[in-house]
Amino acid sequence: MQMGHHSRVKRLLGMGLSLGCLVQAGPVKHGPLVHWNQDPTKACGIVWIDAAGDPGREGKWSIGPAGFGYADGDDATVFEGMRNRYTSLAIRCRIAPRKPDPGARLVLRVNYDDGFIAWLDGREIARRNVVESGGVARAAGSHDAGKWEEIPIGPAELLAGGEGSVLAFQGFNRNVESSDLTLHPVLILRSGAREIPLIPHGHSWEYLAGSPPETDWNRRTLGLAPGERSFELEYRTGPSAPWSKAAISSRPFGFGMQRVFRSELRGLPAAAEVEFRISKSPGGGSEPYRFRMPPADPSRIRFITGGDVYHQREAMDRMNRLAGRQDPLFVLMGGDLAYANNIKPDRWLDYVDSWAANARAPDGRLIPKVVAIGNHETLGAGYHPNDAPGPEAASLFYSLFEFPVKDDATHVVDFGNSLSLVMLDSGHTRNISAQTAWLRGVLEARRKTPCLFAAYHRPAWGCGTKDDSVEIRREWSPLFEQHRVSAVFEYDHHVFCRSHPIRNGAVDPVNGVPYLGAGAWSVDVRKLDAREVARRLWVARAEARNHFYLIETRPGGFSAEAMDIGGEVFDRIDRAWTR
Ligand SMILES: [Fe+2]
Repeated sequence: MQMGHHSRVKRLLGMGLSLGCLVQAGPVKHGPLVHWNQDPTKACGIVWIDAAGDPGREGKWSIGPAGFGYADGDDATVFEGMRNRYTSLAIRCRIAPRKPDPGARLVLRVNYDDGFIAWLDGREIARRNVVESGGVARAAGSHDAGKWEEIPIGPAELLAGGEGSVLAFQGFNRNVESSDLTLHPVLILRSGAREIPLIPHGHSWEYLAGSPPETDWNRRTLGLAPGERSFELEYRTGPSAPWSKAAISSRPFGFGMQRVFRSELRGLPAAAEVEFRISKSPGGGSEPYRFRMPPADPSRIRFITGGDVYHQREAMDRMNRLAGRQDPLFVLMGGDLAYANNIKPDRWLDYVDSWAANARAPDGRLIPKVVAIGNHETLGAGYHPNDAPGPEAASLFYSLFEFPVKDDATHVVDFGNSLSLVMLDSGHTRNISAQTAWLRGVLEARRKTPCLFAAYHRPAWGCGTKDDSVEIRREWSPLFEQHRVSAVFEYDHHVFCRSHPIRNGAVDPVNGVPYLGAGAWSVDVRKLDAREVARRLWVARAEARNHFYLIETRPGGFSAEAMDIGGEVFDRIDRAWTR
C-alpha cells in the first residue's frame, strides 16, 4: 500500500523529527491511472487526484497563491501539516509604487478563519478576532470563512513611494485542533466609483508557516518570484527520446477537497514504452512511470477483463496484483469499480490508490484501463433501462473518467483495424434503447475488423442471480448476432457465468455469440441457485468464484481463460474469429 502524505508526516512526527527535516512526499496523491477511451495511439489519458490547492511548504519563506490555510477545500495554498501542530502563519507582499491618486481610499477585503492582524509597512492597520497573552497571539474564538469582510484603511497616501509598500498579515487559529484555517486578503484602491485591485484574489504572497517570523518580517519581502502553480507532466517514448511537456487540465472531485488532474497524450507511436513523470513546484518530481502502447500489429494481444471490484480493500489489492502479474496490455473494467454510489469519494481514492500501487506488470509498468459504467457508479445504484437518471447521477465517475463525448460512457476503443471494444451503458446513466442506433452504426463501420468485443455491466444472459436484461436482449443482442460479434462481456452478478454461443435466444455453437460474465473481480460472491441456473439452457458454466478473464487474441481467433483469485485457471474457451 502506498503511504500517503498524511501518514508519512505523522510517522515522521512520531519519530520526533523537526519541521525542517520533513520529506516532501511524491507530488501525486492518488494515481496516476492511464485511461484509454478511444484508439490509444490517437489519445491516451493520464489521470490523478490531488488536493484542490497547492501544497504549502513549511519552515521557510516561500511563495504561493492566496488563500492560505487548510481543510474546507477553500484554500489555494494548503498546509496539510498545520492541524494539531501550529496555529498561525504569516504572509506578505509588495505593493508596487504608483502615481498619486488624490481622494482615493484603500480598502481591505478579507476572507478569514479564525482571526488575523494586518500591517502596512510594519504599522498595524487592522485586527479581527485576535487576543494576546504573554506576548502570544491567538484567535479569540471561532470565525468561519465564507463572507468577505470589508475594512476601510485610509487614504491612498498611506502607500509609500520609492520601492513600494509591504502589506503583511498573520492569520490565527483558535487552537491547534481547529478543523480549518483560511486567510485570503485582497487590497482595493477605491477612487470614486472605480475599484482598482492592488492585490487581487489569488495573488502570490510570500508565506511562512510552521515557524515564527523574524523581527521586522512585516516591513520587507525577499522578492521571491512566483513559480509554476500547477502540476507539470513530461513524457517521452523511449529512453533516449527527448522529454515533451503535456498540457494539464483539472476539475473538482468530490466535495471540493480534491481535484482530478488530467493530461491527454496524443499521437503516441505503436509499441512504444512511454515514460512520464509528474512534478509540482515547489516539491520536485515523481518517480518515472511507464506504460506500453499497443503493438503495430494488434492481432496478438493479451488483456484482462472483469468488474465488480471494491468491497474489501485486501481482496481488491490482491486481485489487482494478480492482474498486473499476468502482464496484460490493458484491463477492461466493466463497472461497479469503487462502490462509491456517487456519495463516497473516498472509496474512489482507495480504488485509484490500489490500482496504482498493485496493478503493475512484472517490470513495474502501469496497466492502462478501459472502463464501463456500472450501477454502483450512480446515486441510488439502480438499474434503469428505460428511465436512466443522466450523467449527473454519476458525477464522481465522470469527473474521474473522461470520454470522447462529454459525460457519456458509451464509446469505442479501437486498436487499429484488428480489434475494437464497444463499450455500452446498461441503463445507469443512459437508456438502453437510446444507444441502439449508435451501436448499429459502430458495428457497421467496423465490418472489416476481425475481432470485435462488446462490454456493458448488466447481463442480458445471466445465471439467475438477478433478472436478465430483457431490454438488452431486445435492443442489442440482435445486432451482436447480425454482426457476429466475437464475444460480449457482462458483469454485475458477482459470480462466474459463461454462456454457450447464443443466437435467436437458443444455443448455436457455430453462429452464436458467447456471453462471458459476470462480474466478481474482488467483491463478495453471491450464492448460485441451482434451479435458476438449470432453467437457463444457455449457461455453459456457472460458479460462485472471484475471477477475471484473460483474453488472448491471435490471427485466427482468441482464447478466454478464467483465473480465480488464487491464480488458478478454471475455465477456458477457444474460438475462431466468426467475422
Ligand atoms: Fe456489483
